[in-house]
Amino acid sequence: MLSDKALLAKAIEAQQRSYCPYSKFKVGAALLTTSGTVYFGTNVENASYGLALCAERTAIFTAVAAGERTFEKLAVVCACESGCLPCGACRQVMAEFAPNLNLILGTSDGGFRTTSLSVLLPQPFLPDHLA
Ligand code: THU
Repeated sequence: MLSDKALLAKAIEAQQRSYCPYSKFKVGAALLTTSGTVYFGTNVENASYGLALCAERTAIFTAVAAGERTFEKLAVVCACESGCLPCGACRQVMAEFAPNLNLILGTSDGGFRTTSLSVLLPQPFLPDHLA
């Protein structure tokens, strides 16, 4: 399986492709699926500011559009010292497919820390709550 460091390198690659002329805050994401494929994500902003899409959701939606639904781990990178924390909306979208998703949070010194979505979002709203 791809190492955390190797997946982080993919997220850094995606970060270079960020389209963020308004916030100037570049975010990159790389999602490893159980099939072993990596999907890239970056934040994509818009002149109509509220339409911006986060890097994490770009990666997840790209993977789902390609037919993937089971995820191993997600690396995220931005200019945060203590590790790029996904926003609440992205956490909820991750939980739909992988409530225990392993997360690799890049730090601005080039390092990373690891955690789990179950720590960042302990009580998600899940599909079976609709039943
Ligand atoms: N952003 C992400 O891509 N992921 C997050 O988890 C938080 C925020 C983006 C959205 C926007 O383009 C920029 O960062 C500033 O909020």
